[in-house]
Amino acid sequence: MTAVSCFESSSGMHLSFFFFFDLSFLSVVQVPTNMYNKDPDIVNGVYWSEALNKVFVENFERDPTLIWQYFGSAKGFFRQYPGVKWHPDEHGVIGFDCRNRKWYIQAATSPKDVVILVDVSGSMKGLRLTIARQTVSSILDTLGDDDFFNIIAYNQEIHYVEPCLNGTLVRADRTNKDHFREHLDKLFAKGIGLLGEALTEAFSILNDFNQTGRGSVCSQAIMLVTDGATEMYDDVFEKYNWPERKVRIFPYLIGRESAFADNLKWMACANKGYFSQISTLADVQENVMRYLHVMSRPKVIDHEHDTVWTEAYVDSAVSPSLTTTVAMPVFSTKNETKNQGILLGVVGTDIPLQELMKLIPKHMLGIHGYVFAITNNGYILTHPDLRPLYQEGQKRRKPNYSSVDLSEVEWEDKDYILRNAMVNRRTGTFSMEVKRTVDRGRRVLKMHNDYYYTDINGTPFSVGVALSRGHGKYFFRGNVSMEAGLRDLEQPDVALADEWTYCNTEEKHEHRHLSQIQAIKLYMMGRRPHLKCDRELIQEVLFDAVVTAPLKSYWNSLALNKSENSDKGVEIVFLGTRTGLSRTKLFVPTDQDFLTAEDKEGVFNADHFPLWYKRAAEQVPGTFVYSIPFSTGMLNTGLRLHSSLLSSIHSSVCLSVCLSVCPSIHPSIPPSMSQRSRSKTMMVPCDTEYPAFVSERTIKETTGNIECDGCLRSFVIQQIPSTNLFMVVVDNKCDCSMLSSLTYASSLKCDRLKLQKDRKKPESCHPFHPEENAMECGSASRLSSRLAAILLPLLAATISR
Ligand SMILES: *[C@@H]1O[C@H](CO)[C@@H](O)[C@H](O)[C@H]1NC(C)=O
Ligand SMILES: *[C@@H]1O[C@H](CO)[C@@H](O)[C@H](O)[C@H]1NC(C)=O
Ligand SMILES: *[C@@H]1O[C@H](CO)[C@@H](O)[C@H](O)[C@H]1NC(C)=O
Ligand SMILES: *[C@@H]1O[C@H](CO)[C@@H](O)[C@H](O)[C@H]1NC(C)=O
Ligand SMILES: *[C@@H]1O[C@H](CO)[C@@H](O)[C@H](O)[C@H]1NC(C)=O
Ligand SMILES: *[C@@H]1O[C@H](CO)[C@@H](O)[C@H](O)[C@H]1NC(C)=O
Repeated sequence: MTAVSCFESSSGMHLSFFFFFDLSFLSVVQVPTNMYNKDPDIVNGVYWSEALNKVFVENFERDPTLIWQYFGSAKGFFRQYPGVKWHPDEHGVIGFDCRNRKWYIQAATSPKDVVILVDVSGSMKGLRLTIARQTVSSILDTLGDDDFFNIIAYNQEIHYVEPCLNGTLVRADRTNKDHFREHLDKLFAKGIGLLGEALTEAFSILNDFNQTGRGSVCSQAIMLVTDGATEMYDDVFEKYNWPERKVRIFPYLIGRESAFADNLKWMACANKGYFSQISTLADVQENVMRYLHVMSRPKVIDHEHDTVWTEAYVDSAVSPSLTTTVAMPVFSTKNETKNQGILLGVVGTDIPLQELMKLIPKHMLGIHGYVFAITNNGYILTHPDLRPLYQEGQKRRKPNYSSVDLSEVEWEDKDYILRNAMVNRRTGTFSMEVKRTVDRGRRVLKMHNDYYYTDINGTPFSVGVALSRGHGKYFFRGNVSMEAGLRDLEQPDVALADEWTYCNTEEKHEHRHLSQIQAIKLYMMGRRPHLKCDRELIQEVLFDAVVTAPLKSYWNSLALNKSENSDKGVEIVFLGTRTGLSRTKLFVPTDQDFLTAEDKEGVFNADHFPLWYKRAAEQVPGTFVYSIPFSTGMLNTGLRLHSSLLSSIHSSVCLSVCLSVCPSIHPSIPPSMSQRSRSKTMMVPCDTEYPAFVSERTIKETTGNIECDGCLRSFVIQQIPSTNLFMVVVDNKCDCSMLSSLTYASSLKCDRLKLQKDRKKPESCHPFHPEENAMECGSASRLSSRLAAILLPLLAATISR
């Protein structure tokens, strides 16, 4: 089984998962509900793939950090290790089909440019149009970030479904695909269908786009969704596609009638494509996917076992967290069937990105430092601002996630110097002034960041480190005896950042149940020679535990004094140190989330220090930070932001800051702020510009005006000494409730759709193979003699050329 060797390549990464498996678990096989599970192909496949069990177990024994290992078969079944029970959805259906998953498609096929032609002539009215829409939508599902597409509807004229993208192709990222899906609903059927012009348009934009070099520059295809063609259009193919037949044609005949099928079949066979007939909605998915196995032929004939890494995604059917998958195609090595390019399936394994974050020695990056990684397309793989998404009121992660470009998070004033350097896999440094938002985008910290970046070998990813100036330059390294340190570390009021790695408990099965404190103890007492720990960090955390120990008795006496008095006042006291140690003392019983793992901003985390720690570190020494909670929705209007001036952001200088609060497009990114306003062309349609205030510490008192709806409201602001607070006096003469934000209109939508940022295309590309046998093209019935008379000489001519 050469196929499974890909698991070795990922095993160098030392990832981890929260529970450990009983090795006696075997894999389970899942077959999509809409497929017949007694199908001989499936039964056979399930039988031979049983051999994988042994490999799965061996891989897992060698590397316990492997979470899921799986094999997705070209026949549709899915074998997963370790086995879990699959739960049908509310309709009793398991819709999961591994063949339309990103990792499967990316491993099986090369990047592609696709033009989808949809017939909207009168005969398509009703159910046919519904099926056609569903077909187009399923085709979109099979496209990924390395692919490009456009959709053209045709009757006697051709209509670009998105007129703004007339004559070009766009990247098949989630945002663009969703945008086109909305437009599909607006299609209506009328008139007569003239395919010739549509085909001509498709060929010419594919050709033009290939010339620009911005597309996939690999394979190209035309998807034809129609209820029949009255001609063969051999003149069009002659002109644009023969003899090389570089553009494959995949006709999808919609409806039960096959009277007009022959011409479509002929087109598929004459252009290395595949013909399918889709007569009901239930047929759509299975038929659409056939084209993938045709497109995968050259790669399979080349015996190209290249590994692919997917961009970050959430697949709630397999695992609920943001993940990247490493996958590799599997094919038959039989010589007799080589030229048919038969793909058997794809093997893959998941790497949860939050586990990658744990590899980062957070204590060395300083309070504001962080690590991020992007894909070859500039999309974020991990970034601390990429937060888990929760559905309203629920603790469950939303199953969807849309790609976010690095430039949406690290805002550069002009050009995309950092982004493009990283996309192009360069190694270097960059620095810029940034305003980082904390507290879910509601507070701002001004910083000067230095970025260091490089590519990750063997993957399409680049990684960057951001360090903020003024932090982490000096370390204080204390030394205490091990006994004293361990004693103080084990006190009940002490907690360690449980997502940090003091000791690597993930690497060996026998250490997986240990907590960090237990592991430190065993390690320091020399009881586990195989446990790998960071001795320096442990020295430092033991030191912190000892020097902060006296606080405990002080807090206790404070608590005693308090109980004699009232129920008001201090509720909790806490401290944190750079080494991830925290101490807390509750003065009153509370069920608040504060400082518990529930409130991710309040505790030491895999990728950030607690919010209170960050804010205090930015405060002038010797003064206090008062944190006044924002009520929800505070940022919704400029005025409310303004009336909440008692926060950390206010000032003498009013500055226009762009906040991109755009839940529909980037649900996972909190508003980020740029130094200056971004140029308008870079705005997203729902980006909104709010007035905000930034404090300037040296200014103790100031006055100013805010213009609201035709009148001026004046205010006086005064710093309150030794705090981060301000006193604000405002007159109430004019009504500022209308002080509205400026939202960018839809005219910018088109600019954004057209905007093509730099990307690096995947190196592997297998569009053709001279030995490919393209005779299997979905045409079950024999070619009619009339057709054969035309076709055979043509084919003979083209092949011999
Ligand atoms: C595309 O745009 C060009 C120029 O704006 C226009 O001449 C042409 O008719 C448009 N084509 C379609 C199909 O809308
Ligand atoms: C695209 O362009 C490249 C180079 O310009 C060329 O080698 C390739 O054959 C073209 N592909 C298609 C499908 O026309
Ligand atoms: C595979 O088949 C080709 C021609 O059909 C032959 O030349 C080649 O030696 C065969 N290879 C093996 C490994 O059998
Ligand atoms: C994402 O999830 C939300 C809520 O679960 C849903 O309303 C929305 O339609 C989903 N979007 C996509 C593109 O699936
Ligand atoms: C730490 O202190 C111990 C004695 O308590 C001493 O033996 C050791 O050398 C010290 N280590 C360092 C790095 O100073
Ligand atoms: C507790 O109260 C006593 C008497 O009121 C006072 O002397 C002592 O300093 C207080 N302790 C603390 C820790 O404030």
